[in-house]
Amino acid sequence: MHEKLLTAAIKYNSGDPKRIQHLIKVYQFALLIADGENLSEREKKTLAAAAILHDIGIREGERLYGRCDGEIQQRLGPDIALEIMSDVGGYEDVAKRASQLIGRHHTYTDIDGADCQILIEADLLVNLYEDGCSEQAVISARDKIFRTKTGLELLSVMFFKEV
Ligand SMILES: [Fe+2]
Repeated sequence: MHEKLLTAAIKYNSGDPKRIQHLIKVYQFALLIADGENLSEREKKTLAAAAILHDIGIREGERLYGRCDGEIQQRLGPDIALEIMSDVGGYEDVAKRASQLIGRHHTYTDIDGADCQILIEADLLVNLYEDGCSEQAVISARDKIFRTKTGLELLSVMFFKEV
């Protein structure tokens, strides 16, 4: 459904398989959670675009400033995302909100909507694994940040084997 945007994001990250695999995983987890939480079609489209492009500021951050932390991603990501969505076409109705989400996806306070909450949860599900986080870090993220029933279920199934 979002093949063109996915392909554009993959090409943008050419030569960087880790980031390409990261964005595909965050996109898919975001859609899984969105389905479980009964988001509207428009919210799902917003979330899909935001998830595919959420880390799009990293490359420019590294090129311009030699850094790729959350703050620089949030600052540079939205404009690059708007350009890619405009090039691909078909995202005019959700581009503004998607770029807003990209601009705050590392900010865990004042989460202003289900789309935002879900993007943050999907990114954390992937980052907690990719960064090799401790069980304590997983528990802390679960207790402090996760809110949706589907996100909590995914976290629990993935990181804690049921006996
Ligand atoms: Fe991410």
